[in-house]
Amino acid sequence: MKRVFSGVQPTSQIHIGNYIGAIKRFVELQNDMDCFFCIVDLHSITIPKNPKELYENSLQLAALYMAVGLDPTKVTLFLQSHVPAHSELAWLLQCNTYIGELNRMTQFKEKSQGKEIVTTGLYTYPVLMAADILLYDTNYVPVGNDQKQHLELCRDIAIRFNKKYGDTFVIPEPLIAKFGARIMSLDDAKKKMSKSNENKHSKINLLDSPSKIKKSIMKAVTDSESEVRYDEENKPGVSNLMTIYNILGGLSLEDIENKYKGMGYGAFKKDLVEVVVSALEPIQIRYEEILKSGEVEKVLKEGAERAQEVSNKVLDRVKRKMGF
Ligand code: ADP
Ligand code: NA
Repeated sequence: MKRVFSGVQPTSQIHIGNYIGAIKRFVELQNDMDCFFCIVDLHSITIPKNPKELYENSLQLAALYMAVGLDPTKVTLFLQSHVPAHSELAWLLQCNTYIGELNRMTQFKEKSQGKEIVTTGLYTYPVLMAADILLYDTNYVPVGNDQKQHLELCRDIAIRFNKKYGDTFVIPEPLIAKFGARIMSLDDAKKKMSKSNENKHSKINLLDSPSKIKKSIMKAVTDSESEVRYDEENKPGVSNLMTIYNILGGLSLEDIENKYKGMGYGAFKKDLVEVVVSALEPIQIRYEEILKSGEVEKVLKEGAERAQEVSNKVLDRVKRKMGF
């Protein structure tokens, strides 16, 4: 069976971009592939993180993973920090990665720009991500479009390592959706929807209340026309809303255009609120149930055991090749 690995940083503030671009697709893959879904808590400390919230946030994300439909009997759900091989392989790979390669990473440039304090962890983050993926002999990595460059670096590192030390790593391939891999900000259709955008109306989180969802959608940027038409180039705001409508509501882009012909943006947005609220309601109900059930920690413990079993073998393989 093909292996899948992906990770998301611990927080319950998961937005519909994370959901559509990544987590919803995890659910679709779980029946056909051997999936490892990781809560990458080590990645989350590359920027300041409150220690009081770190573990709590990990548990919340695990509950959210399960609430959207990931079945812990089918997939391996675990915390990165529970599997020491991630940090160890990251170091071994750092010694096989070039500064010039990391200097090219656009996400580092964006995240460090204008910051007074920038950690070396933020800089070497893509190498830890490469370790995460390579440790599981991963074939496919479902991610949003923003992770494309990191995935290429991961492949470059693995290919170079295999050439230098002999066949060691499986070369992973990104699984980036043709449609929905880049959900845009509601306040600026030129930027991707992002956890780090401080304007709460720039995004819709999976746990947002119906009234918050309504406010964010009604405020969402469109354009000076009034026609509901898909045109990413000239109508990025409307096209983004149509993408969300299509993926969460199931109506084709063409059917959406026809449905709102001559009606303007108001009616379209009002219905989109309904679509989003109905899609998120069952997730929110399950989330509360799962958190209350207290089963999350057990799931993560069992997940870590399986993850250790698989990753220790790969780590041993790497260390032997390097002469340890
Ligand atoms: P963020 O980028 O919001 O800080 P993460 O880095 O934890 O969140 O990303 C988690 C997953 O969600 C990754 O696979 C990422 O590619 C995907 N993702 C993030 N933002 C978007 C978006 N706006 N549209 C689609 N996918 C996204
Ligand atoms: Na991201």
